[in-house]
This record gives sequence, C-alpha cells and structure tokens, in this order.
Amino acid sequence: MNKTKKNNSIIVSIVMGSKSDWPTMKYTANILRSLKIKFETKIISAHRTPKRMFEYSINAKKNNIGVIIAGAGGSAHLPGMIASLTTVPVIGVPIESKKLKGLDSLLSIVQMPKGIPVGTVAIGKSGAINAALLSASILAVHNTKINNQIKKYRNRQTKSVKLRP
Ligand code: RP5
Repeated sequence: MNKTKKNNSIIVSIVMGSKSDWPTMKYTANILRSLKIKFETKIISAHRTPKRMFEYSINAKKNNIGVIIAGAGGSAHLPGMIASLTTVPVIGVPIESKKLKGLDSLLSIVQMPKGIPVGTVAIGKSGAINAALLSASILAVHNTKINNQIKKYRNRQTKSVKLRP
C-alpha cells in the first residue's frame, strides 16, 4: 500500500480579502472546528492578488473543496469573482467596514447579477458563524457524521436558552 496516500476528504475553504478580516473570519473557523469539519484558511485579494485568486478558484474542485466561504469588505468583489471561476458553492461574509459599517460589503455581495450566485449571510460575526453552519448543512447532504454534528450543535444551543431571564 502506498504510505503517502493522499487524503481526499472534502474540506471547507475559508478565504478572506485581507488579514484584517481574520478577527471576523476566525468565528467561521471556530465553528467548523467544533463541528469537526476539515478546513483551510487563505488570504486572497481579488484586486491585490488577482493571479492567486484565479489559480485558487480554477483548482478549487480538484483540491476537494466542497464549499468556499469568502469574507470581504468594502467593494467586496472577492466572493463573486471566485464564484465566476468555479462551480463550488460560494458563501459570502460581508465584513463590517469602518466607514459604512459593512452595508457596502453586504450590498456588494448580495447583489450578484443573475447567472453567478453567491449565498450571502449577515454582516460580521453573526454572518461568519452562520456561514460555517450553512457550509456544514451543504456538506451534510452527503455526510451523516456532519449531519449528526449539526444536530448536536443545535441541541446544545437549545439547552443553553433559559426559560426565564
Ligand atoms: C477588502 O478590503 C478586504 O476584504 C478588507 O475587508 C478590506 C480592507 O482591507 P485592508 O485595507 O484592511 O487590507 O479587500
């Protein structure tokens, strides 16, 4: 048997336009870790590193990426650009920008013209968390272990809600 056998399991790929997005995108990573889902993290900027973005996107499928979660702020073109280059589903996380509080990021990501979809979640931390949970649900369609992890997560969440304030 080949000892250097390649690990072909499907992963989630977390990408972000800048290192400054990490304080938000770390919440995505934390949820995936808690659900025992394999993931990678990369900084890829559509305008500062366009070649990196292109290579990453066209190779996503063959690199066993099942879902891409792309965080971006401001004009936030990264999720849409990646989605245009791959058929791997892309979830966009609008990063809270300083000047417009992330409304710019949200509108940019959510208003993809017809033909190339990007699933869009809420601005900031809530969106980063939901992006991870949504990616888990997508993978859970064909993965019972992940489905069970989501159920456990929801049970914990339900138990944590007290009846009275
Ligand atoms: C976007 O520009 C990034 O996603 C980031 O949210 C925003 C600002 O980037 P920095 O100037 O902090 O590198 O590309």
